[in-house]
Amino acid sequence: MGIGHPRRRSFVTPLWRLTPAVSQAPDNGRKGVSDSEPDYEPPYLYPDYRATVLRAPKRPLVKLPEEWFHRARGPVFGRIPVRPEDADLTRQHNREPLGERIIVTGRVLDSDGAPIRNTLVEIWQANAAGRYIDPADDHPAPLDPNFTGAGRCLSDNDGRYRFVTVKPGAYPWRNHPNAWRPAHIHFSLFGAELGSRLVTQMYFPGDPLMSLDPMVKSIPDMRGRDLLVATLDLSITEPEWALGYRWDIVLRGSAATPFES
Ligand SMILES: [Fe+2]
Repeated sequence: MGIGHPRRRSFVTPLWRLTPAVSQAPDNGRKGVSDSEPDYEPPYLYPDYRATVLRAPKRPLVKLPEEWFHRARGPVFGRIPVRPEDADLTRQHNREPLGERIIVTGRVLDSDGAPIRNTLVEIWQANAAGRYIDPADDHPAPLDPNFTGAGRCLSDNDGRYRFVTVKPGAYPWRNHPNAWRPAHIHFSLFGAELGSRLVTQMYFPGDPLMSLDPMVKSIPDMRGRDLLVATLDLSITEPEWALGYRWDIVLRGSAATPFES
């Protein structure tokens, strides 16, 4: 799992649907959204989000044969198992990282409310000062020797994931003058097929930077933007220890949810 560079290679794709991108053809820069569905998917090209000008496909997408690897069942981990401690970003070094300790948990569900079990959930984030460990990050905020900023876990039988981490800081990203990203945690989820991957970001409630952020604003429907915001939940909060946030991830389409019973 790589650490996305926060400035030159910010690659958020707040898809709300778990489908292989290779099977979709561009439709005026949009990704196959029907009139009857809420428009939650950002266009490939959103000029206010400057990186999309270089990144947006200029030619029709190449459609790979369905029998290729993206139909292979996943997740596949090779010789590197997912360990319980991978989900605690505050225990990866000799000492605890600085910052506000938080718990982030939720369920991965399909559109029918059925849990997505045993799916690989990966996160990466800046530290509490808004700095990534990525060497390409030159934001003059301090690195934390006790924080890498990457974690992963598998969803359980209820589709639940859970991470312990510290609240990431906002950081500047040079998209436009005085541009600052709201505090966020990057998420990646793999579906039951290797070709089905969701990459998105979770935000924190009440962040005034969200309304200024071109990445957030590239999501056409306001409801889609709201769905990226976690909820402060006192039932998750552990007294005297950490605030708890709940963020459920709903993947549209029962066809993409082979764990559905
Ligand atoms: Fe980021």
